[in-house]
Amino acid sequence: MSDRKLAIVTGGGQGIGRAIALDFAEAGIDVVIADINLEAAEAAAAEAAAAGSVSLAFELNVANADNVEALVSKVMEKYGRIDYLINNAGITRDSLMMRMGDDAWQSVIDINLTGTYLCAKAVIRVMMKQRDGRIVNISSVVGAMGNAGQTNYAASKAGVIGFTKSLAREVAARGITVNAVAPGFIQTAMTDALPDKAR
Ligand SMILES: NC(=O)c1ccc[n+]([C@@H]2O[C@H](COP(=O)([O-])OP(=O)(O)OC[C@H]3O[C@@H](n4cnc5c(N)ncnc54)[C@H](O)[C@@H]3O)[C@@H](O)[C@H]2O)c1
Repeated sequence: MSDRKLAIVTGGGQGIGRAIALDFAEAGIDVVIADINLEAAEAAAAEAAAAGSVSLAFELNVANADNVEALVSKVMEKYGRIDYLINNAGITRDSLMMRMGDDAWQSVIDINLTGTYLCAKAVIRVMMKQRDGRIVNISSVVGAMGNAGQTNYAASKAGVIGFTKSLAREVAARGITVNAVAPGFIQTAMTDALPDKAR
């Protein structure tokens, strides 16, 4: 096992995840940028490498359990450790609930909430053996406050908070911490998609 620490950032190809990945790289930590958009992940990984990180881009759909297992196998083969998991990948499919298609509900729950569960579950085995690890889940203020037009997103992000608090209690004794961050409005491609009034 190398002395250098390793972080996985899901949805690290752009926006908040990309900024987190580059902060890791600048702090001397190796980063795996796992994103459904491989091209974006590769560009971010190249930037992380330029900052001195041993980086890897991986095409990942966080909602697909086989994909997530393949990611963890690849990371263990290449680096032999996982110190940080940042569950950042997320989507919005906004509409008033009365008009919401079931697929808009399900895809947001699958990616934002089930994706967080699948990634945490896959890395926790490694962290348990290490008796060390840090998991940070990106929630949202909307998960605590609610927001008209975002019942699916708010439910997923509230779910992430409950998930985080419960998992933290399960693994604290093994030296693993699990925390959530609930950002307010941060200008990225996600918020660029909002109508002016909502913004
Ligand atoms: N921007 C904000 O104001 C804000 C506020 C609170 C919380 N957040 C949360 O922060 C996180 C990042 O948001 P952002 O604003 O940077 O969004 P973004 O849309 O700019 O980036 C999201 C990234 O996730 C990737 N992604 C989407 N679906 C994926 C999947 N199934 N598997 C793997 N990767 C996938 C995208 O390709 C993209 O690179 C999200 O969880 C979001 O809900 C954002």
